[in-house]
Formats: sequence, C-alpha cells, structure tokens
Amino acid sequence: MTGQANEQASGPQHDKAGFETRAIHAGWEPDAATGSVIPPIFATSTYRQDGVGGLRGGYEYSRSANPTRTALETTMAALEQGERGFAFASGLAAEDTLVRATCAPGDHVVLPDDAYGGTFRLFDSVERAWGLAHTAVAVADVDAVAAAIEPGRTRLVWLETPTNPVLGIGDIEALAAVAHDAGALLVVDNTFASPYLQQPLTLGADVVVHSTTKYAGGHSDVVGGALVVRDAGLAERIAFHQNAIGAVAGPFDSWLVLRGLKTLAVRMERHCDNAERVVEFLSGDPRVAEVIYPGLPSHPGHEVAARQMSRFGGIVSFRHAGGEQAALDTCARAEVFTLAESLGGIESLIEHPGRMTHASVAGTDLEVPADLIRLSVGIETADDLIADLDRALG
Ligand SMILES: Cc1ncc(COP(=O)(O)O)c(C=O)c1O
Repeated sequence: MTGQANEQASGPQHDKAGFETRAIHAGWEPDAATGSVIPPIFATSTYRQDGVGGLRGGYEYSRSANPTRTALETTMAALEQGERGFAFASGLAAEDTLVRATCAPGDHVVLPDDAYGGTFRLFDSVERAWGLAHTAVAVADVDAVAAAIEPGRTRLVWLETPTNPVLGIGDIEALAAVAHDAGALLVVDNTFASPYLQQPLTLGADVVVHSTTKYAGGHSDVVGGALVVRDAGLAERIAFHQNAIGAVAGPFDSWLVLRGLKTLAVRMERHCDNAERVVEFLSGDPRVAEVIYPGLPSHPGHEVAARQMSRFGGIVSFRHAGGEQAALDTCARAEVFTLAESLGGIESLIEHPGRMTHASVAGTDLEVPADLIRLSVGIETADDLIADLDRALG
C-alpha cells in the first residue's frame, strides 16, 4: 500500500512540536508514491494480502483499520498528548464503546449532574438496562464526587468540563486523584474546550472523549467521535471493542475531521475572541438576567477554568430576564445566529436547550432552566453578531 498514515506514533520529529505543527503534520507523511501532501480518502473496505496473512502495513479490513482513520486517530492522540486515539461514527458511539471496554454489568459510574443530555440518556436508558448503575453529582464539588464513589464497584468517574449547556467546571487534577484513590478511571469529555484549550491527559485524566462533530470537525459537516487514552493496556481493550462493536468513523468522515483539526488553533482563538465580545455585550444588557461564561470572574468555576484552560471557549449561555417565552422569541428572531442544535462550527448558532438539545432530560435532576439560551459563537464579524443579538433580544 502507498499510504503513509503514521501508525499511532506521531514520529520523533513531531513529539516536541507545537500544537499547530502537530495538528497539521502528526498523522501523515506525504505519500511515498505520489507525494500527496494530504491523506487520501481510502474508500476501500478490504486490502490485498501478499499471501495469506501477508498484510501491508497491518491493513486487513476497514472496520479494523483504515489509513484515513489511522491518520485522524494519530493526530487526535498527538493533540491530546495521549498514547493512542480511536475514531468513531459519533461522540455517543465513542462513549458506548468506552463503557463496554471498561465496565461490566453490576458496575457503577459517577456522572456530572449537568452532563450533555445525550450522554445522560445513554447511561440512564441504555447502559442501565445492561446492568450499569450510575449516580449523577455536581462535579464542581470534589467531595460530592468522592462521596458518590462506591469503592470496588465504581469503574468510571465521568467529567465534562465545561459542561453542556450550563458551562459547569470540574477540577480535572483533583477529580483524577479522587477517582484513582478509589481504583476508578477519570474520563473527561473535552468536546467544549477542544484539545487546543485543554489537555486533560496531562492533568491526570485517563481517557478523553470527543464529539468531533463539534470543534474538532469545526464546519458542521460531519458527525463523529473520538477517544484518546494514556495507558497502553487500556488502549488494547478499546481497540478490541472498537473492532468488535464496529461503530467506527468512515474514511470520508475521518478525512473531514482531520481537515478540521488542521485549523483548530486559529479557529479557537477567533471563537474565544468573539465569545468575549458577546459576553461583554450581554453582561451590560438589562434584558439579560445572567450571563454564564467560565471567563467571567463571577463564574463559580472561573479559577479552576483559568488554571486548566488556556482560554474559555466559544460557548456562552445566558438567561433571558423576560422568562421562557422571551427566550424562545429571541431564538426565533436571530438571523446571523442560526437556530439549530449542535455547536463548535464556524457559524454562530443559537438554541433553547430546554426544548431542543436537553429535552431528553426534562423532568430529571438534569433539567435546565426554561429561560436559558445557549450560543455557539462562530467566527463571523463580531459586530454583526452583537447587532443580531441586540435585535433578537426584543
Ligand atoms: C459534550 C458532548 N459530548 C458528547 C456529545 C455526543 O456527540 P455526538 O452528537 O457526536 O454523538 C455531544 C453532542 O452534542 C456533546 O455536546
């Protein structure tokens, strides 16, 4: 085979390279035969063998491995500074594979009480039926997490930081210590921060989860997920389950995420710049009851966020002083902000979590306020975003 996907090793020349260099070069060496600078989309399900068992570069069948996917997995591992990365068909597919690889029926996990609704639904409606118990706690409270752990039974402490949509912050270093004391693994969903703003494995986490649908892909044109781990033994278990379950990222989707990662650094800087401008505008507006952004000193997790993130990200949530209807009307009136679920793309999105992304947690402990609006601040001209919000607030 002619592809030069680096086999889960960023290569000595990339180990000490800066983030942007790793994002652009880590997973691929220009193709030996053609010099192709960018990895091709290897649209193949199978690979010719040189005699029975004579695999070229280890490629046998594309559920097990595909060079475009390998390039993405290697880049993700290099950006998160992990041992090995894995790419999946969606963030939830990555989460489910991780759970099957690390837990068994009868085990227990600790979840954030403000986790992404789909993550909660996975644990509450799918993994629970499989026999996995869970306790949802406020992960900003390290003692509460420690108290929720059932020694000998808790396998995972699950952390999202910042959380979706209320931007709660958990202390990765402190929670890693609490999880490890009890023999559990700390899993960090790093979707909101992206590896550019926060690298949980360097702070003691064992596994990083991504919905690559969001900032990693960055262009709202692909659904995908990823896991990155530090430990080689855990990597082997995940590799086995990734192949055995089969919820893998296809080559075209892998290619889109890989292309997105190459510009992650510059996009994140602009997302953060624009989010700060939006926060400044909303903070001074009487139509807004509360602005929720980890970069604000008034945010309860500000200090921890400042320690573990390089900037505070592109997601801003706020509560409309006029209540639920005013929040719904604001979403309907926005024009530059597109009314849509998801986040992390170049375009700004607005949504009402209570009726949209988080409708699945209505009536549970994870229910979100009815007057809450979530903004995914894109990379358009900041003045246009502010003028749009000013009009939309009513
Ligand atoms: C923080 C977080 N984790 C996981 C997911 C699930 O990812 P996906 O939609 O790619 O399955 C999402 C989706 O919105 C998310 O916001």
